Amino acid sequence: PRKIAVLTSGGDAAGMNASVRAVVRYGISKGCHVYGVYEGYQGLVDGGDRIRRMDWKSVRGWLSVGGTSIGTARCMPFKTREGRLRAAENLVHHGIDSLIVCGGDGSLTGADVFRSEWPGLLDELKKANRITEEDATTYGHLTIVGLVGSIDNDMAGTDITIGAVTSLHRICESVDSIGTTALSHSRAFVIEVMGRHCGWLALMAGIATGADFVFIPERPPMEDDWESTMCAVAHRHRMLGKRKTVIIVAEGAIDKSLKPIRPEYIKDILTDRLGLDTRVTTLGHTQRGGSPAAFDRILATIQGVASVDAVLRSTPETPSPLIGMTSNKVTCGPLMKAVELTHEVAKAIGEKNFARAMELRDPQFAE
Ligand code: F6P
Repeated sequence: PRKIAVLTSGGDAAGMNASVRAVVRYGISKGCHVYGVYEGYQGLVDGGDRIRRMDWKSVRGWLSVGGTSIGTARCMPFKTREGRLRAAENLVHHGIDSLIVCGGDGSLTGADVFRSEWPGLLDELKKANRITEEDATTYGHLTIVGLVGSIDNDMAGTDITIGAVTSLHRICESVDSIGTTALSHSRAFVIEVMGRHCGWLALMAGIATGADFVFIPERPPMEDDWESTMCAVAHRHRMLGKRKTVIIVAEGAIDKSLKPIRPEYIKDILTDRLGLDTRVTTLGHTQRGGSPAAFDRILATIQGVASVDAVLRSTPETPSPLIGMTSNKVTCGPLMKAVELTHEVAKAIGEKNFARAMELRDPQFAE
């Protein structure tokens, strides 16, 4: 039987458990042996009981549980050659031939590097007598499949990442809560949301809550004096009778010269220029926690199934696939192409080509 390991890596995201559950149960139904790797790549490096055979019951009740029950880590040892050697040795010793990784672009890039190094790693292990000649032949190829789990929705090659919708819900609930207290005191709130270098959460939360102004990295304000534009908008809304002002700032927001736009600075502008009683709220990790929305449970389940199918279809010649979703259809495209496109967004921003950044990120919002 195929022996498939599944791990979650990078920042946790709601729905990761549903994807592991789907991999385990669908894998078993297809006659595979499925292993859970605990603590992300660290578990691969450590081996031992961090790599555990999963059965049908191992994942019972996981659909509705937030975070990732097999744990995750931002693992430094896996970034070293010795770390990857130990990971390869542990996989071979468990007889594992395929690895499904649910994580963000950094985690998925790491997975593909691991695959490309695989023959060299096995050679080195064989020379050092850490694996046998026979092992090196039997496990000559490692299949890697990527599932995108990240609240940031920052990956090319998919319209939506596992966990992003849940996080957006959580943000909307928080912004709505802030709204009632803001209304009561007629206050302004500057709310910082996560997303790393991606503005998706901020932009969508702005649309979903009717924010007055949104700052995102992909489309910085283009005016030299954007502060006046923002104040004019907030003032106009006040003149229309609005008793609250809500500004949403992505944590990666920048101005057109790529300088970070900090919530405290916006607060000072609103206070000094409009005389608004202003508070800053950083939503922080509340955005990543809690039970997954139905959408993420479903997305993670159908993509988990697709990832096992991708393992069963793969050959040493096929490039590592990434399971995505485009126009409501599950897709299976080359992982590295998606990673490259993702990096192109950062490059476009670095070159101040914001139109290109927006187009790559979400053509729907490009000018
Ligand atoms: O990538 C997910 C994310 O939550 C980002 O939005 C945020 O910048 C980062 O992870 C926070 O990381 P940590 O939980 O390690 O502080």
